[in-house]
Amino acid sequence: MQDIIRQLEDKRNAAKLGGGPKRIEAQHAKGKLTARERIALLLDEGSFEEWDMFVEHRCTDFGMAEQKIPGDGVVIGYGTINGRLVFVFSQDFTVFGGSLSESHAKKICKIMEQAMKVGAPLIGLNDSGGARIQEGVSSLGGYADVFQRNMLASGVIPQISLIMGPCAGGAVYSPAITDFTFMVKDSSYMFVTGPDVVKTVTHEEVTAEELGGALTHTTRSGVADLAMENDMEALLNMRRFINFLPASNREKPPVWPTSDSPLRAEPSLDTLIPDDPAKPYDMKELILKIADEGDFFELQPDYAKNIIIGFIRLEGATVGVVANQPMVLAGCLDIASSIKGARFVRFCDAFNIPILTLEDVPGFMPGTSQEYGGIIKHGAKLLFAYAEATVPKVTVITRKAYGGAYDVMASKHLRGDVNFAWPSAEIAVMGPKGAVEIIFRKDIGDAAAIAARTEEYREKFANPFIAGARGFIDDVIKPRNTRKRVCRSFAMLRSKQLENPWRKHGNIPL
Ligand code: HXC
Repeated sequence: MQDIIRQLEDKRNAAKLGGGPKRIEAQHAKGKLTARERIALLLDEGSFEEWDMFVEHRCTDFGMAEQKIPGDGVVIGYGTINGRLVFVFSQDFTVFGGSLSESHAKKICKIMEQAMKVGAPLIGLNDSGGARIQEGVSSLGGYADVFQRNMLASGVIPQISLIMGPCAGGAVYSPAITDFTFMVKDSSYMFVTGPDVVKTVTHEEVTAEELGGALTHTTRSGVADLAMENDMEALLNMRRFINFLPASNREKPPVWPTSDSPLRAEPSLDTLIPDDPAKPYDMKELILKIADEGDFFELQPDYAKNIIIGFIRLEGATVGVVANQPMVLAGCLDIASSIKGARFVRFCDAFNIPILTLEDVPGFMPGTSQEYGGIIKHGAKLLFAYAEATVPKVTVITRKAYGGAYDVMASKHLRGDVNFAWPSAEIAVMGPKGAVEIIFRKDIGDAAAIAARTEEYREKFANPFIAGARGFIDDVIKPRNTRKRVCRSFAMLRSKQLENPWRKHGNIPL
């Protein structure tokens, strides 16, 4: 018996070495950790239970029968993060460049199915040269098997991708289906076709970093949510991030202990809004002052910055925040910000996370580039997402709530549960100047008349009380009391029940 146990140990040790010391060294030389080192940092110490360590590929072409490495380029299993169960796969670049074989794909599918059955998040650590070239179509089939399960798991368990090396070709579509994608700067990239193909087809010269690096995808394309400095920072942030999420769509988000009183007043908020309505201010200040302990996990901070999304906690419980940012494009809704907001609202709704909307929006962005780009359809995504959401929805209008954007941003009419306004709120079809130039067109040229009309309009509509008189907002609140009022609202809404009519699925304007 001792012998067999020793043999088992030897086999385990061989598997743990992956592609061997030389390739591990090469991985480290690139500033990257190995698949197992990453798992060790991600999970609570000693919590990892590995599966399929002895799985091998079955390819016999191109001399592959003689090249078998136990585990076949991916480490799978489960463990805990701050005591909460998560499932993980981690591609091992030291084994055939982390490329995906039929067996490798089967391992990923196995852990995905288990995560769905149990109801716990799936975290994928991606570092792969793509389809295992020696296996041909079997490898492509393996990818499709993973994609299918990504789709089935969508809205059932949180799925998060960390891109920690190459991710190219069709391989990018698995992360693209998952809920969130984090990338590591300088060592990861994602693209459908690499720089060489780009050069052949479009004659553009571009580096891998420019084409699909972390900065590209977090500033230009919006494909990724966050760019991290290195593997360590990415993994530690993932630990922090997962603390905000529920295990599955069957559960509510976790509640963590907090010493921050829900009654905390913030007198400084009374002067957040500048006297001049055309002047911007930083909406993030409001978010930080409402949040428990000022803790805000922002997503996509460098993409479509006119809308802010991310998670905070109120009385220890996760809340998704969607906020217009007056500092960028005056907080206008354009194509990119509508899509960014819509996808986040849908994530929150799918996973029972209440939504706090902080609103200061002068409207949808005008112009040919927006219209030709389809702002109608893309803006409708945000409208659809808010209208569809049945989770608790609390809205605070800090200043402008103009036009269609007023309707879209979780208004009462879209089943907003609690709609507050600050005394500085201006709820109207449009800003005073634009309105007067339309309805008093005949007076244009008469500066005094226009000024008088504008003032009249401002007085009548640039306030929250007309909306208040109709019950479209529930109360006008003092800015300093925002945290208290919002906390109370979400506490009241904890037992909210609302269902949409049965259907196969809605048809969100994609
Ligand atoms: C088999 C692969 C491989 C692959 C890398 N390797 N990619 N083996 N299939 N796809 C092997 C290499 O042969 C090498 O083996 C080891 O992994 C490390 O690779 P290097 O090239 O030495 O590393 P590096 O210089 O860092 O370059 C990494 C790389 C490059 C940029 C990823 O390896 C590369 O371009 N690979 C091919 C990428 C590719 O075209 N994949 C198919 C894409 S199409 P040794 O033994 O020498 O250490 C695709 C379709 C998916 O994925 C469709 C889904 C729908």
